[in-house]
Amino acid sequence: MKKLETRDDIELLVNKFYEKVQHDDTIGFFFNDVAKVDWSKHLPKMYSFWETILFGQMTYKGNPMAVHFPINEKIPMEKRHFEHWVKLWTATIEENFSGEMAETAIYKANNIANLMGFKMETATRLNKN
Ligand code: HEM
Repeated sequence: MKKLETRDDIELLVNKFYEKVQHDDTIGFFFNDVAKVDWSKHLPKMYSFWETILFGQMTYKGNPMAVHFPINEKIPMEKRHFEHWVKLWTATIEENFSGEMAETAIYKANNIANLMGFKMETATRLNKN
């Protein structure tokens, strides 16, 4: 299996991941119906995000947490959604890549998803009070 080592690899990974996400019964609606994502803009952002996280190429400038709060206000993003996100991400990596960087991509996604899940849950709780 191929190592995860170039920007092209990241593009392939991200494309295949969001292909799954778009058609997914558990989290697809956040992208398709709640945020009505423009994929031609979202995908290049995600290439840069992962290139920055994994290869230290600082091509992504943004606040990944911030964009999720308005979505969470419309429909709460729950722990089970993040767990499912991570499941799809892990499956996409394991179907296409192996090696240390592939492992790192799984590990980092888990960390960010946990943190994001915690922040969304806290925001949902505060919004209710
Ligand atoms: C249930 C889980 C998640 C859902 C439903 C979700 C949903 C979304 C949606 C709908 C957008 C697009 C917002 C827009 O352009 O209108 C977005 C952007 C983004 N998401 Fe997520 N997301 C999830 C988890 C994650 C995780 C775990 C990560 C990181 C590992 C992540 C990283 C990002 C980044 C980097 C952006 C682009 C931010 C920017 O515009 O600069 N998301 N997400």
